[in-house]
Amino acid sequence: MSQSHSDALVVFGVTGDLAHKAIFPALYALVKSGSLQVPIVGVASPKWTVEQLRTRMEDSVKQSTGIGDPDAMRRLDETTCYVSGDYNDPATFGRIKQALGGAQRPAYYLAIPPALFETVINGLKAVGLTDNARVIVEKPFGRDLASARELNDVARAAFPEDAIFRIDHYLGKEAIMNILYLRFANTFLEPIWNRNYVASVQVTLAEDFGVKGRGAFYETAGCLRDVVENHLFQIVALLAMEPPAGQNYGFVQDEKAKVFRAMRPLRPEDMVRGQYVGYRDEPNVAVDSDVETYCALKLYIDSWRWAGVPFYLRSGKCLAQTGTEILVELKPPPQPLFEDSTPAFSHSNYLRFRLSPRSVIALAARIKRTGKEFVGDLRELSLADEHTGEESAYTRLLGAAMAGDGALFTREDAIEAAWAAVDPVLKSYPPVRFYERQSWGPKEADALIASDGGWHNFGPEGGSGA
Ligand code: BG6
Repeated sequence: MSQSHSDALVVFGVTGDLAHKAIFPALYALVKSGSLQVPIVGVASPKWTVEQLRTRMEDSVKQSTGIGDPDAMRRLDETTCYVSGDYNDPATFGRIKQALGGAQRPAYYLAIPPALFETVINGLKAVGLTDNARVIVEKPFGRDLASARELNDVARAAFPEDAIFRIDHYLGKEAIMNILYLRFANTFLEPIWNRNYVASVQVTLAEDFGVKGRGAFYETAGCLRDVVENHLFQIVALLAMEPPAGQNYGFVQDEKAKVFRAMRPLRPEDMVRGQYVGYRDEPNVAVDSDVETYCALKLYIDSWRWAGVPFYLRSGKCLAQTGTEILVELKPPPQPLFEDSTPAFSHSNYLRFRLSPRSVIALAARIKRTGKEFVGDLRELSLADEHTGEESAYTRLLGAAMAGDGALFTREDAIEAAWAAVDPVLKSYPPVRFYERQSWGPKEADALIASDGGWHNFGPEGGSGA
């Protein structure tokens, strides 16, 4: 398909949470910047009027960024219409076709449960609406390897691979795009970016809040499927990939897919599952739920570059802080010339990527304290700080999908390879361990990383451990 801009956008599931939380603010930002000037058709089953939908859009924008530009909000309202209907009823798709008028290259955003993808895609196909079209789908893309393959088959039966945009909103985040840039726009990292110098890598996505009313979803997903297999794995792929063969983003996708293929399939002993005390009292959660709200993994990438380097990933709800941080810990100097330069004493060098809430890239080195003793402190050199006025990840990704630019999306083979690495622990997994709210998770997770110096439990600004 050519990279022409889609000439209409259809949002399935437009009355749902995702639309309210993420899609409407993104549409508003795109309309405001003039990047989106196409008709929008919202589709869902509730029998709403278009006015109800517009009120919901306005409410969503008010709650996210605020309506700073009432004219843009009016343009978004005017360009949006609503089709109500059952996805199993062919008449619904007839009405969508009518609403699309003469659109030649529509894009379909499936903000609906994956179980409905096939019905919707087949409904569109039956009325000839898939030709020259694009489809945008949300994570979770499948719940294991088999279901991811099925979903890919369903999508591929109607759309070519370059017309399928699988969203992982982490890939649209400024700080995460900067990992790729920092690694390949500089030469100083490459000589040390391997098993010879890197001792271990930690990635933490911590949230100090619970499931926030999403208990029903969480019961079907759990932390591993919700954020680890996708968001954290995407971060690992960007950290671990080889240099792409050229500027074409297909080359980046190729290298990321190779990282997933090289991941050693996880074993139950490589994982600690946790559940915060009180999760079972959340609405729509089973009283005896075994679903994890915390997950820690130790994984290996069996490649020439990373053989033997442990990658520790963890994420959890109701932890002590909210923030996402990567710590690439370098090996200590080969000889402990100074009293304080042994690994048992302190860190030597590391590279720290604070991804959220405020992004920072920092390089840590030991610097001698003034005085006759050869003792020092670890100091961080800050390479980058967040700039204000960033586009939100959804604005960036939706704009890119409408323009046909697949650079920031995930590819079929990469998704399947990532599921293949976690598949064994989806079938056989350790029991959940309980942890107190506002803690750093179950103590069993400390044992997982003990031989590599322990978790880096950051403070509100990141950096110094607690
Ligand atoms: C979503 C998960 O994909 O990512 C949520 O479903 C999680 O459970 C969220 O809270 C984290 O995203 P962010 O952008 O807030 O770090």
